[in-house]
Amino acid sequence: MVSEVKRTIEINPVSRIEGHGKVTIQLDEAGNVVDAKFHITQFRGFEKFCEGRVFWEMPVITPRICGICPVSHHLASAKACDAILGVELTRPAKLLRELMHMGQTIQSHALHFFHLASPDLLLGMDADPAKRNVIGLIAENPELATKGVKLRSFGQTIIQSLGGKKIHPIGAVPGGMNTALSATDRDHFLKQIDWAIADTQIAIDIIKSYYDKDKDFVCTCASFPTGYLGLVDENNNLELYDGKLRLLDSKGKVLEDQFEPSNYLDIIREHVEDWSYLKFPFYKKMGYPKGIYRTGPLGRLNVSDGISTRLANAELKNFKKLGNNGIVEGSLYYHYARLIELLYAIERTKQLLEDGDICSTDLIVTSNKYNEQGVGVIEAPRGTLFHHYWADDTGKIIKVNLIVATGNNNAAMNKAVYSVAKEYIKNNKITEGILNRVEVAIRCYDPCLSCSTHALGQMPLAIHILSADGEIIREISS
Ligand code: MG
Ligand code: NI
Repeated sequence: MVSEVKRTIEINPVSRIEGHGKVTIQLDEAGNVVDAKFHITQFRGFEKFCEGRVFWEMPVITPRICGICPVSHHLASAKACDAILGVELTRPAKLLRELMHMGQTIQSHALHFFHLASPDLLLGMDADPAKRNVIGLIAENPELATKGVKLRSFGQTIIQSLGGKKIHPIGAVPGGMNTALSATDRDHFLKQIDWAIADTQIAIDIIKSYYDKDKDFVCTCASFPTGYLGLVDENNNLELYDGKLRLLDSKGKVLEDQFEPSNYLDIIREHVEDWSYLKFPFYKKMGYPKGIYRTGPLGRLNVSDGISTRLANAELKNFKKLGNNGIVEGSLYYHYARLIELLYAIERTKQLLEDGDICSTDLIVTSNKYNEQGVGVIEAPRGTLFHHYWADDTGKIIKVNLIVATGNNNAAMNKAVYSVAKEYIKNNKITEGILNRVEVAIRCYDPCLSCSTHALGQMPLAIHILSADGEIIREISS
């Protein structure tokens, strides 16, 4: 509701993101934006819960952080535990872990594009909010909605085959995997590759034609300079499961190259603000806020020189042309980057399934000597995910540090909210379509708020508009 004092906006909750959060937009006397923030207001302290448990349990405990990206936590955790054991995995175990990770990337990226993002792109930013959702999409384009369901299910079936369950997997264990891939499942998955690639290419055509149609908005919406962070392989190609960290500045200059992930504390620090429970990671050598960076699909493609699979690499070349020096800044290009990664994940799944070692049962290496610390880093669908455990000599966890994927983009999401609010809200003119554009900017990042607050389940996110005297004059929730 808009009251007499027309100076404060809250978006509450921001919808079609994973979990919920709150946006506050502060107006001045004239009704123009002076500040805007994306708040994470809940906190569950998962790092503390884990203290006192034995490290062997961590790959099963940490997926409970989130019902949306449990596989990412499961694998980052298993990698941290491998480091505590001080063992090098067998080749088949590494292949299976990566395959499970590809299943997670496929299901998460497909869900985001087809069901969370496409209603805005296909039905329009100003479409009736009652229809601008997945139900509206099913009514308008049932075939496309079905493709999303099928692709997501393909990824989930891979996870289920290797992890025992679709949601909270148990397949990865410290030192390897406890489940082998059957030849029957391998052959079944291989038969799905062609349609999965074809459907992803349809989605890529959709995003490209949307970019052509709405060029001005796409180029300018939440476009701003930051650094970029992601894992790369030894040739600086895109890497999601293993590899080294690469950090670029806003112009594409390499700041950290082939950086060992276990030393992440030497380059990353976290800034704290009293209005958010989610911290703000930044590049230590530049300080905060100059050193903020983006992760996730846009960040990863910006730091990658190439992609090791053919079709995705061809798309990457097109993507790089969208920016200067191959650096793409606009938040809406996250969608294209995400679909290029989806294509890569499917092509990579095929390579893994065709590997002669993929059905091997040589899956475990163990040790009874424990290191004091272990770091596990992977590229979760939303960005770089860090699990760092300290253990005593009996293997009991003394301390845990997690930097979740969404947290890396915290500062960028705040910048995105501010830039869109500032651009569109003038002289107290606030329409539903404008507030949706604020949500659209956040949704580009596919934030997982369950993860970022280490909470279980969902929490509400709202847009609140505040007057110059700090009163809430409008509150929107869905
Ligand atoms: Mg933390
Ligand atoms: Ni999550």
